[in-house]
Amino acid sequence: MRTLLYNIARLYTPDTQRAYGSVRTLTDVSLLLEDGLIADIMDRPRPDVEADEQLDGQNKTVIPGFVDAHTHPVFWKTREDEFIMRIQGKTYEEIALAGGGIRNSVRRFREADKEQIKQVTLQRLGYFALFGTTTIEAKSGYGLSTEDEIKTLEIIKELNEELPLQMIPTFLGAHEIPDEYQDDRQGYIDLIINEMIPLVTERKLARFCDIFCEKNVFTVEESRAILQAAQKHGLASRLHADELHPFGGAELAAEVKALSADHLVQISDQGIEAMAQAGVIPIVLPGTTFFLGKDQYAPARKMIDAGCQVAVATDFNPGSSTTHNIQLMWTIAALKMGLLPQELLWATTHTAAASLNLSQQLGAIEPGKQADLAVLDIPNLNYLPYHYGMNHTVMTIKKGRVIYPR
Ligand code: NIG
Ligand code: FE
Repeated sequence: MRTLLYNIARLYTPDTQRAYGSVRTLTDVSLLLEDGLIADIMDRPRPDVEADEQLDGQNKTVIPGFVDAHTHPVFWKTREDEFIMRIQGKTYEEIALAGGGIRNSVRRFREADKEQIKQVTLQRLGYFALFGTTTIEAKSGYGLSTEDEIKTLEIIKELNEELPLQMIPTFLGAHEIPDEYQDDRQGYIDLIINEMIPLVTERKLARFCDIFCEKNVFTVEESRAILQAAQKHGLASRLHADELHPFGGAELAAEVKALSADHLVQISDQGIEAMAQAGVIPIVLPGTTFFLGKDQYAPARKMIDAGCQVAVATDFNPGSSTTHNIQLMWTIAALKMGLLPQELLWATTHTAAASLNLSQQLGAIEPGKQADLAVLDIPNLNYLPYHYGMNHTVMTIKKGRVIYPR
């Protein structure tokens, strides 16, 4: 199958042979897509080549499809009641300590059967393509029993086969201590290590193991034990680290050579240095800080200055960040973290793909890479975060096929 995407006024892609933030800009080009891959970049807007399908780029802007490297899309009920409690002054942590938050979602999740959850997840996933996102990392973590965690990862696997959106599954059984283990946290950790991880890996249901390493959730020692056990089974590490309190999560990420450490609002200077040395990718989540109504954002500029390649993601989930719109993350990251459009392009494509070990296949417009593209109605890259709250995407292409509009 050959597709010609012609009439592209501007094309922006991370220049992956150069430093973080370097952008390759081309004007008046077309793209030849073949069998789901980018076959050629042609420097004419309307070349005379044979193709099975001709797609009009409408004289607009093309960038790589967004890679959203941190999402929690598989849940049952939404939590707008807790949102109202937060407006009225309760904090996210107070709600969680009183049994709400993640544990609230877990209780709800266990009431529903697999087919019901699959259907609501399917509807939610459609929104990602609308905004130009073509790949998401998708975590489990609202089941927190062997059966319900497996159920979650099976839903991701089945939807991956049915949908064009690509999901990269992460096992997050260590998202919280569920109600029934509140007085036996070691019992839950043992369950994760001795039962869940072996089963998840034996059934090839996840590529990564994540953990919520945080005060009142999992300690650094517990996190280390779980992540190392998962590594023995072949699951690379990612961490929710240093989000609400300075906790040593970034240092642990460096120690265990995690692929990413995420959130990092409270990261220490030593944590930044350690991550830069170890090559751990910081994934910052500006939508979460915004939606929790907080003022302190992750120090992404400091991380870049220390030599880290920073990724940006939505953290889509029912509690702390409910948006699918990664374009909005550009605006918040620009204003609150000082990230520039050329850095944000890397942060939401090539670097995000690197955090998933997929930068050879995804995240840049280069011959041989997957034909995942977003066609945007913007006159230049700076305009994307500037005209904010908008959806600039007019067409989304996954593996050479139009997935939005349908
Ligand atoms: O990344 N921090 C932990 N996990 C999610 C929140 C999940 C929830 O509140 O349901 C996060 O923000
Ligand atoms: Fe998260």
